[in-house]
Amino acid sequence: MNSSINKVIAITGASSGIGAATAELLAERGASVVLGARRGDRLDDLARTIRGRGGRAVVCETDVTRREDLERLVETSVEEFGALDVLVANAGISTIGRMDALDVDGWSSMIDVNLRGVLHGVAAALPVFRRQGTGHFVTTVSTAGLKIVPTMAVYAATKNAVRTLMEGLRQESTDGVLRTTSISPGFVRTDLADSIEDEELRDRIRTRMSEFGISPDAVARAIAFAVEQPSDVEIGDITIRPSVQD
Ligand SMILES: NC(=O)c1ccc[n+]([C@@H]2O[C@H](COP(=O)([O-])OP(=O)(O)OC[C@H]3O[C@@H](n4cnc5c(N)ncnc54)[C@H](OP(=O)(O)O)[C@@H]3O)[C@@H](O)[C@H]2O)c1
Repeated sequence: MNSSINKVIAITGASSGIGAATAELLAERGASVVLGARRGDRLDDLARTIRGRGGRAVVCETDVTRREDLERLVETSVEEFGALDVLVANAGISTIGRMDALDVDGWSSMIDVNLRGVLHGVAAALPVFRRQGTGHFVTTVSTAGLKIVPTMAVYAATKNAVRTLMEGLRQESTDGVLRTTSISPGFVRTDLADSIEDEELRDRIRTRMSEFGISPDAVARAIAFAVEQPSDVEIGDITIRPSVQD
């Protein structure tokens, strides 16, 4: 344990992949972490691991599609650790597919989790950040929004909507109180492909992830870099992809 990041940080989607790796790294660097996701058993295991290494972690079961859950996540941070310095709005799903498959339910789910979920986080944390006079939103967007490819149009749209929100918030907050960061990962080895309905597409994405996807730890390091900057430095965007990704 070291104490280079002496902050209270709530993380959504902390039960696996990038969110879990980020929680572990930030806690190792001294942050008090508040773990949010739906799978409470996984969060409990992670919190136990972090505490076993001398870190500080609490669990708050959170479904980001429910505004009140985000309010509870923020309240838990303030009640347990006295503040909320950073919200890592990382929860996401990728019910991807060609648009002519007309998977309207899948589109809605991505909008609900990837976009509305982040907005719920903003609505819950913004008043606390303003009251404290400081706060930082970090979001996990995607290179899918930078290079638009078939099957990822709606997923990319939700990610680029979030990128736009972060820039809008930044423009509204040049008084130095708020900072916003959008992290754009390329292929990362996680469970993200599990939510893809189309079997062939799911297998293709899984193969790419296992062949050349980077470790979620790499994204965690990028998030830590943004978070540990002094308060007058704002890292707006970080793109981080496998060196062999086209
Ligand atoms: N892996 C990649 O290649 C890649 C690339 C670019 C961007 N990203 C983005 O990175 C983020 C993290 O994904 P990952 O790759 O680490 O995949 P992952 O291992 O599948 O993690 C997704 C996380 O989101 C949570 N989640 C899903 N729906 C939720 C809901 N309604 N409420 C709360 N939490 C919810 C999941 O937890 P529960 O199921 O327990 O709720 C899980 O912890 C996502 O936003 C994803 O779009 C990933």
